[in-house]
This record gives sequence, C-alpha cells and structure tokens, in this order.
Amino acid sequence: MQVRLAVIGLGNVGKRFLELVQSKHDLLKNRYDLDCVVTAAGDTSGGASYFKALDIPTILELKASGKGIAAYPTHGRGELNMLELIRGAEADVLVENTLTNVKDGEPGLSTMRAALGRKMHVVTANKGPLVLAYPELFALAKQNGVKIYHSATVAGGLPVVNIGRRDLGACDITKFEGIINGTTNHILQAMSQGESFDAALKHMQELGIAEADPTLDVDGWDAANKLVIVANACLRLPVKLSDVRVEGIRGVTPEHIAQARAQNQVIKLVARAARELGSWKLTVRPERLDASHPLVQVPGGYMGVLYETDINGQIFARIKEENPYPTAAAVLRDVINLYQ
Ligand SMILES: NC(=O)c1ccc[n+]([C@@H]2O[C@H](COP(=O)([O-])OP(=O)(O)OC[C@H]3O[C@@H](n4cnc5c(N)ncnc54)[C@H](OP(=O)(O)O)[C@@H]3O)[C@@H](O)[C@H]2O)c1
Repeated sequence: MQVRLAVIGLGNVGKRFLELVQSKHDLLKNRYDLDCVVTAAGDTSGGASYFKALDIPTILELKASGKGIAAYPTHGRGELNMLELIRGAEADVLVENTLTNVKDGEPGLSTMRAALGRKMHVVTANKGPLVLAYPELFALAKQNGVKIYHSATVAGGLPVVNIGRRDLGACDITKFEGIINGTTNHILQAMSQGESFDAALKHMQELGIAEADPTLDVDGWDAANKLVIVANACLRLPVKLSDVRVEGIRGVTPEHIAQARAQNQVIKLVARAARELGSWKLTVRPERLDASHPLVQVPGGYMGVLYETDINGQIFARIKEENPYPTAAAVLRDVINLYQ
C-alpha cells in the first residue's frame, strides 16, 4: 500500500525522519506492506510538492548544503506558505515537525486543522498545537474520520503516550509521575556531583543539550507542556497549561541536594498527575524522592515515567536518548500504526 506523506519541518527530527523512511524502506514494505513516499515538504524557505514523489536524498542534500526546500529542482517554490502547501498537497498524512510554539501554536496548528479538514491523518512531534488545542484537534479528526498520532511529543522515543493511552486502555490510571525533561535531569545530576547550577547549565549549553535560552527547560515549562499532553491523551482530562502548578529548578541549591542525600533521597524535577480528594492535581516541581523510588533509576541522560494503575499495578519505563533518531523513529512508528 502506498502512503503519501506531506512532511513539514525539516530540522533535527524532520531530516532524521526522512532518513529513516529511506533506510527502513524494505522493512516497511516487508513487515507492513507500506510504501511511504514524500509528495510534499516544507520549511522556512517555502515548499515543494510533486504528486509522484519527491526524492528524499535530494531533499537531504539541499538541507545539508544549507539550502531550503524552495531550492528543490522544478517543484520547489519560495513563495509557498505551509497552509497553501497542505491545501494543494496530494497526501494521506501530514507529518508536522516544526518548532514547538505554545503562544499561538503556529505554524503547526493551522496546517493541522487544514490537513484534518482535508481528511489527512496527522503525525507530529510538535507539542504546541496539542498543548493549546488538544480537544479541538481530536474532535476535528473524529469529525473527518482520521487520526492524530503524537507519540513523539512526550520524551521523544519513549512510548509514554502509547503506554498510557493504548496499552493501559483497560485500566484506570491512578497516578502518573515522570522525569520528562532531559536538560534539567542532566543539570540536577551535575549539581549532585558538585557543580553549581550556573556551571552545570553552562556546561549543558556547551554540549548542545541545553538551549541558549534555557527558560523553557529550567523553569519547568517544557515538562509542563508534556504533562498537559499526557493528561489529555492518557488521563482523558481536557486540561490546559494554566491547570499545572509549575516550579523549575533555579531554586535548587547544592545544600538542598546535600540535605536530601543525607536522608537517602534524590532531588528530581517531577511532572505529576495525581488524584487528591477526588480531583486531579497537576504539578511540575523539584521533589525529594526516596532512593527506592523507581524514578531515581532515571539518571542524567535518561527520561522516565511511572504509571500507577488499578489492575496492572506500576509500569515503569525509561529511555536514554542521546540524539534525535529515537524521536524520528517514534514519528515513523506513528505512521506505521496508522495503517495497522
Ligand atoms: N529534537 C528532538 O530530539 C525532539 C524530541 C521530541 C520532540 N521534538 C519536537 O519536534 C519538533 C521539531 O524539533 P527539531 O529539533 O527538529 O526542531 P528544528 O531542528 O528547529 O527544526 C524545525 C523545523 O521547522 C521548520 N520551521 C520552523 N518554522 C517554520 C515555519 N514557520 N514554516 C515552515 N517551517 C518552519 C524549520 O525550517 P528551517 O529548516 O528552514 O529552519 C526546521 O526545518 C519540535 O516541535 C520539538 O519540540 C524534538
């Protein structure tokens, strides 16, 4: 079966996704009978669209040489915006991997609405549109008889959303706890090894792990965005970012870490959804975890989650994610799962 992809966002994730579509071509064909082709692609330079399929190596070469997709031979167009690209694309799936923007969700939110309206499935690693408009987008998908898969939005390659939404489908999830921001987990570990917060952050920035503007990570907002998605997808709670109490790690000092260690505890930035007096409480904050807590087994470099359920007890999963390939593979698994 041929699956036509419109791929918007050709950065760290989008490029790796295209590489995997190419390198896993035989696996996709032999294992799932899927022949994935890219019929549209977009980045900040514009777009390219060709109903017979764009050539993936040509796209990757353009990106490697610093050119945008607008330079694609014959079919590239600099004046094309992403909405026009989707409205004109002959595609079955929008694969949307532009930047996470939780101010207005753009450009992803508009292209997702347009794709769903054209009865295209949506697969994305982009948190912004889901954080802002999860119930609206899923209602639109249902109305049009198509699906939105977004397993890469929370902890990249770790199937947090799939476990909670699909695999625990017959259970009542009673609690979720996660270490779902890699940067802060790295920094807290470095601080526990004697570095100051500023030195640890600088080191992470030099390694390219933390952004030049680390606010989203260190102030807890990236983890809060992911918690909103977990709550909507897995706990079926139509919550927004304003429903999460958020505290980052700037206030954590070496003294706090030493005090915790003296009591056999570890400080982690924990994203938590738990029922209190019958209603759900959502928090992201530094917490002291006992050494026996499963999330203590999530050191710097890893992300991990713990679900508590009525029937299956505790489910703990973690991943060591050192580059964007696991996230790109999560995007590809979502494309596969659309057709299973
Ligand atoms: N990196 C990870 O490991 C990871 C893990 C989980 C989730 N995510 C999420 O995945 C998404 C992509 O991340 P990334 O690391 O690949 O980001 P990135 O490297 O910055 O790539 C973003 C891509 O989006 C394109 N883009 C930005 N604004 C656009 C616009 N207005 N119109 C068209 N294209 C636009 C950029 O175009 P240009 O190429 O022309 O600049 C670029 O190709 C983000 O939402 C991120 O939060 C990333």
